[in-house]
Amino acid sequence: MLNSPRIFLDAVSKYCVTHGIQIEIRAAGWLVVMRRGTKQHLAFGYDLGLNSSVAHRIANDKAATAEVLHALGIPCVPHTVFFSPQMNEVMPPQASWEAMIAILRANPSGVVIKPNEGTSGNSVFRVSNGPELELAAHRIFASSPSLAMSPWLDIEDEVRVVLLDDRPLLVYSKSRPTILGDGVRSVLELALAGMPYEMRSTVFSDMIYNLDSATLNSIPPPGERQLLSWRHNLDKGAQPVLLGEGKVRDDCVELAAQAANAIGIRFSSIDVVNVNGAWKILEINSGVMMEALGRLHPELVYAAYSAALDKVFD
Ligand SMILES: Nc1ncnc2c1ncn2[C@@H]1O[C@H](COP(=O)(O)OP(=O)(O)O)[C@@H](O)[C@H]1O
Ligand SMILES: [Mg+2]
Repeated sequence: MLNSPRIFLDAVSKYCVTHGIQIEIRAAGWLVVMRRGTKQHLAFGYDLGLNSSVAHRIANDKAATAEVLHALGIPCVPHTVFFSPQMNEVMPPQASWEAMIAILRANPSGVVIKPNEGTSGNSVFRVSNGPELELAAHRIFASSPSLAMSPWLDIEDEVRVVLLDDRPLLVYSKSRPTILGDGVRSVLELALAGMPYEMRSTVFSDMIYNLDSATLNSIPPPGERQLLSWRHNLDKGAQPVLLGEGKVRDDCVELAAQAANAIGIRFSSIDVVNVNGAWKILEINSGVMMEALGRLHPELVYAAYSAALDKVFD
């Protein structure tokens, strides 16, 4: 987890300095107060304040997003919400366990469960049987009031589209960390040898959590490529790769724009996944976080936040 939105703050500060806007950074970097003349504008976290409250809340809620998109016929990954038993006092009890088991039974490849309002791949579990489901649900409910459940999908590619009022500002795919077998070294040794030093702690904590010791100690045959994480989160070691002009980019942008319009969001980052050759929306983020991309392409990240701030101040 990041301690403060550093690249976001650098970009916003630079914009303010070059546009004659006073800036005050508070709450360890999470609250930004901007003033020009009589106009005051606030940013909170990665939210520049362009989105309506309802768009923000729907984007934050994976099951609500999927429900809106599904109702409008926009291809998306289904997410079904279940509430923690601690919510029984405020929500009608749902007999959640039977319903969760029914979804698991209906999906022989397993399911993915995650906090319904989660981010950054935290507490996202793949489960394939009842005991695994029980353990994962228990872990999520320890810190979240609700979880979202989806069928497990074999995601070939995940693309992020940063959109501002239908205009794609950035489009990049997320390349997961891998190793290439040499028939001599174990998965763990190859991962250690191939990983840049600064990425080790991120990738390793996720790898230990994902791969069992038999897999870590196994020796892949020469030339065999193996994923170190099944998740595409940049915070967990995936790398952003900018997409050039072409059909993939166009298809992802078009689908992302449909999704943004469906929930009425203006500035967002939308994740689109390819499953069996078809693109679907995975999630919409109303806070636009580009820390990982900013380490590689600070100028592109600055341009994207500037375009959004122009909408605020013009
Ligand atoms: N149903 C699914 N099937 C397979 N992989 C999934 C599924 N849902 C999520 N993932 C993987 O987990 C990652 C994190 O899930 P996501 O829904 O984006 O949650 P978060 O908001 O925590 O990033 C995704 O980038 C994707 O790689
Ligand atoms: Mg995500």
